[in-house]
Parts: sequence; C-alpha cells; structure tokens
Amino acid sequence: MDKFPDGFLWGSATSSYQAEGGIDNSDWSKFFDAGLSCDHYHRFEEDFDLLRKLGMNAYRFSLEWSRIEPEQGKFNSEEIEHYKEVLLALRRKNIIPFVTLNHFTLPIWFTEKGGWLNSKSSGYFEKYTKEVVKRLGEYVTFWITINEPLVYAGNSYFSGKWPPQKKSFFSAARAIRNLIKAHKKSYYSIHKLSSSARVGIAKNNIFFEPYKNKVINKVIVKVVDYFWNRYFLNAIQKELDFLGLNYYFHNRIRFKFSSFKKWKNNNDNKKVTDTGWEIYPEGIYFVLKGLKEYRKPIYITENGLADAKDRFREDFIKDHLCNIHKAIREEVDVRGYFHWSFMDNLEWDKGYGKKFGLIEIDFDTLERKIRPSANYYAKTCKENGLICG
Ligand code: FCB
Repeated sequence: MDKFPDGFLWGSATSSYQAEGGIDNSDWSKFFDAGLSCDHYHRFEEDFDLLRKLGMNAYRFSLEWSRIEPEQGKFNSEEIEHYKEVLLALRRKNIIPFVTLNHFTLPIWFTEKGGWLNSKSSGYFEKYTKEVVKRLGEYVTFWITINEPLVYAGNSYFSGKWPPQKKSFFSAARAIRNLIKAHKKSYYSIHKLSSSARVGIAKNNIFFEPYKNKVINKVIVKVVDYFWNRYFLNAIQKELDFLGLNYYFHNRIRFKFSSFKKWKNNNDNKKVTDTGWEIYPEGIYFVLKGLKEYRKPIYITENGLADAKDRFREDFIKDHLCNIHKAIREEVDVRGYFHWSFMDNLEWDKGYGKKFGLIEIDFDTLERKIRPSANYYAKTCKENGLICG
C-alpha cells in the first residue's frame, strides 16, 4: 500500500455559480443562466453527509460575491449568515473547509465599473474580503483568494469566451495586474483579521514539454512555462502561505512556421475525456516538481475529468494519485487532494452536459447518485493510500 503522509487532506471541490443555483445578480446570470443547478444552496447538509460517507475530510467551495455584496458597499447579512451555516455544518461533520473568495463570477455592480480593468478593482475586492473575514474568519483556516486568475483573464479578456467577452491582449494584461494586486491586498487583510489563517491561490498550471526535444521547441517551452506557470506565482510568492494547484492539461509544443495555432497540443491523445482533454497523469508529477522551488505546502485544489459514463474516472484518480505520491517521495510537500468535482454541475460556457462529478446529478429531479468511481476514491480516502502498480 502506498500511504500518504499523516494528516493528508482528502476532498473534492465545487464553486458557487456552478453548483448552488438561484444566483441572479452576477455577470454570469445574464450570460448563461445556471437556474437551480444542483440546488446545493439548500441541500448542503445532505451533500456533506454524502461527502463524509465517501471518506472525505475536506471540502473546497466558493463564496458568491454577488450574494454577499449585491450592491457596492451594502453587505447582505442573511447571505453571510447562510455561509456561516454552511461552515458550521462542515465543522459538525469534521470536514475542513477551503474557502475560495472568488471563483470567476462577479457582482453586476463590479462589472459595470469595468470589472478587473478598473484601477480600483483590487480595493473593491479587499473590502469584500475584509467583511467576509470579519464575519466568517473564526470558522475558516484555509482561504483561497482567486481561482485560476490566468484562465479567467484569458477567457474573459483575451479570447472573449466568457463575460465581459473582451478580445484584447492589453485588457487581459491589465486584468492580470489587478488580480495580482487584489490577491496581495486580500492576503494582508486576511492576516490582519485572523491570526490562524493560511492564505493561498488556486493556480492552473500546465505540463509543457518539447516535441522530440528539438531546440526550438525547448525554447518555446521555456517561454510559455514562464508566462503560464510562473509569472503570477513569482509576483505573489511573498503573499502565499500555501500553493493550490489545479491540474488538467499537458501540452506538447511543436513549432510550425505555417500556423501559430498548431504550436500546442501535439499530444498523443491516447485517451481523451468528454471535453476532449487528453488524460495525462504523468504531467501532474512534473508540474509538482516544478512547484517545489517555491518551498510552500501544496494542495491539489482541482483535478478531474468530464466522463459521463464513468469509464475512465477510477483509473484517472488512481494514476494521478500515484504520480502525486511519486512527487511526495521526492520531497514535494503535497498535503491534500481535492477532486473536481464533488458533483456534476454547470461547466461554464459548455453547459450542463459535461459530467465532472463523483456524484451524478439528475438535473430534473436533483437526485444524487454515487458513481462507482466515487466508491474507489472513498476507499483511498479512508485508507489514506492506494496500491500503485
Ligand atoms: C477549472 C475551473 C472549474 C471547472 C474545471 C473543469 O478551470 O476552475 O470551475 O470548471 O476547470
């Protein structure tokens, strides 16, 4: 049996807009109405019982900023109270919360002021953080300020896929600068208000490798690795108590004169998920090795796949965990793993068709069903280990 370190956290993750339902005051509400989603907002008790039954001892979720601060400077006490109830339920069930302050969605008032392009945006975020930590700080140790800042900036300001659908390199760069400031301000505010808090970020890092080890490909790998994997972390490394890694992608880079777009994804794609993403568990080992230099405790804050038929999920979990275990044996300080996702939910612009859940949701009846792979994961959580071939 390959055992994980004592005290290792075993969990899964969701985000407010993707799972709660009934959010009508955020930028996404207009762009893609999530409707009732999983109704996690009302069914959290029952969901946490399932989580516990599956042997997990940690849960990552996000607070919905648009619920807490529906109008600028006006905080909604009832909504804050709701999240307090959520946190108390977790406490009663001995589940450690990892609380994300912002998982992509934004209050409408904030976007009307220019969103993350506004030079005051980091200050607005800091105010929201302060109010939250004043009211909920005693129930939370682990805070994640912002989820995947570069994915967000890329989709919202560069490729135009997500609201506010901008397509400008300069806007994306500006948003990233403000997200860095927001993280830093929020880091110091949290620490001022809560002495026991640990503050981190959830960062999507990709395993880039050069096609056939050619020099030109190696050079490109160095550049993209720096900008995607390191730039943001370098900027905030003094303001990080731990590092959250979201791992989904591997890109084998192959330079082509003919087409800029064909540079990436020269992967073998032997196995792909329902979103067409290659399954490449070795990549998480290399990404973790790359993060070692930051000398921070690492939590895998997301890792998972869309797999409606549950054909690959068990092997996916096993193979990723075995690669994480290998990194731990080589002294990478990994302290927890959160599978994405606890349950099926809204996969952003891709809709409800992509099934990432350990738990299957019937979106007509909202019935929860445990997928077979979830039982495998439960066994691993309970035994704090697994058998790697
Ligand atoms: C990540 C997001 C998460 C989920 C997964 C599949 O980029 O953080 O909300 O959509 O992808």
